[in-house]
Amino acid sequence: MVIVYRSNTGFTQEYAAMLGRAAQMKVLPLAGAAGKVSEPVFYMGPLMAGHISGIDQAVKAFAVQGVCGVGMSPASQQVLETLAKANYVPGAPIFYLQGGWAPKKVGWLKRRMVNMVTRSTREALQDKGSRRTPEENRYLDFLLHGGSYVAFENLEAIRDWMKNV
Ligand SMILES: Cc1cc2nc3c(=O)[nH]c(=O)nc-3n(C[C@H](O)[C@H](O)[C@H](O)COP(=O)(O)O)c2cc1C
Repeated sequence: MVIVYRSNTGFTQEYAAMLGRAAQMKVLPLAGAAGKVSEPVFYMGPLMAGHISGIDQAVKAFAVQGVCGVGMSPASQQVLETLAKANYVPGAPIFYLQGGWAPKKVGWLKRRMVNMVTRSTREALQDKGSRRTPEENRYLDFLLHGGSYVAFENLEAIRDWMKNV
């Protein structure tokens, strides 16, 4: 299997490189990979309004065996279920990883779109004031200023799945 990815601000690329090193797989960016890959593909792409960026191109160009969306919200069963519904690939399991948020690396319109979506969460956290847990403090700072939740441990489910493919 080969890892093919797309990344706008670098978080998906970081995960793809980490996974490639750990699983000893070749890692290729989606741009320019079409026609160069004959092996099955594990596709990784950033989430954009619930859609895994590049997934349609990947499914057209390769034999996609597994898919991973990288977003900014914390991983949960609900996030995964919503993701699976909107990004169905027949016969391929879907995974979710929390990446990061880089407001300075995206254009103003995209920054505004994200800020609109995260507004109620930010306000709810701000209203909690000193009752916020350390984890909530970290997440509020992340939503306001950006940051990264990329961590090798998050790859466990994908690595387990890869061992049995
Ligand atoms: C326009 C836009 C829409 C986004 N939509 C979502 C989303 O629906 N869900 C989510 O969890 N993250 C969303 N994000 C956050 C990115 O998916 C997140 O920052 C991701 O880590 C980016 O990966 P990359 O650095 O590989 O591009 C969005 C970001 C932008 C700029």
